[in-house]
Amino acid sequence: MREVWKGSPLLAPVAPVLVSCGSMERPNLITVGWVGIVSTQPPRLSISIRPERYSYGLICESGEFAVNLPTRALTRAVDWCGVKSGREVDKFAALGLHALEGSAISAPLLAESPAAMECRVFERIPLGSHDLFLADILAVNLESSLLDEKGKLRLERAGLLAYAHGEYYTLGKRVGSFGCSVRKRRQGRTSPKAPAGGRKKGPGNSRNRP
Ligand SMILES: Cc1cc2nc3c(=O)[nH]c(=O)nc-3n(C[C@H](O)[C@H](O)[C@H](O)COP(=O)(O)O)c2cc1C
Repeated sequence: MREVWKGSPLLAPVAPVLVSCGSMERPNLITVGWVGIVSTQPPRLSISIRPERYSYGLICESGEFAVNLPTRALTRAVDWCGVKSGREVDKFAALGLHALEGSAISAPLLAESPAAMECRVFERIPLGSHDLFLADILAVNLESSLLDEKGKLRLERAGLLAYAHGEYYTLGKRVGSFGCSVRKRRQGRTSPKAPAGGRKKGPGNSRNRP
């Protein structure tokens, strides 16, 4: 048995990112669940924001914002910044958070987030309840503790947060990696039968991500 509901935005999990905007003097944070990568080359992402949000005006005005990845330690901040408005309260001050200068934008980053993307808007599309902001990712700002001795990004160290249907979660156990379905297994291990026509060279360890 299955049920059919009317159309609704059931996409889960999503990253409940903290979008920082405004200026270093008057920074603001808004929690955004409707976020996504829309192009790898050039690197671009989208965020959807309702016009009534205080942050909407700030982002329209400057055309800049940063997407700060949320961690478990930031759970309370993620929720609070998603229910309080910068119109009434200085969210950075109230939560004891710190604004960090970006390298490519004048909008602030969130110092307490270990990974942030600095973005500049190139298009805004009204779509209904929300406007879609399409933005170039100009720089990625990373805490060095996320990098190993070879300079490889170890994002699993960040303790990232996820959001699904009103609930916050931490990420669970790693159950695979990109290309694992087509990667050759070491001898001695059982492996699924190769597809007819032989095993094609898959993305495996290459950098060929979506
Ligand atoms: C988990 C979560 C996700 C949210 N996602 C969005 C979103 O994608 N777009 C949006 O406009 N508001 C979203 N909100 C609501 C805003 O974060 C909220 O209205 C916030 O108080 C606006 O702050 P501002 O007035 O300072 O801009 C979300 C809230 C939460 C808690």
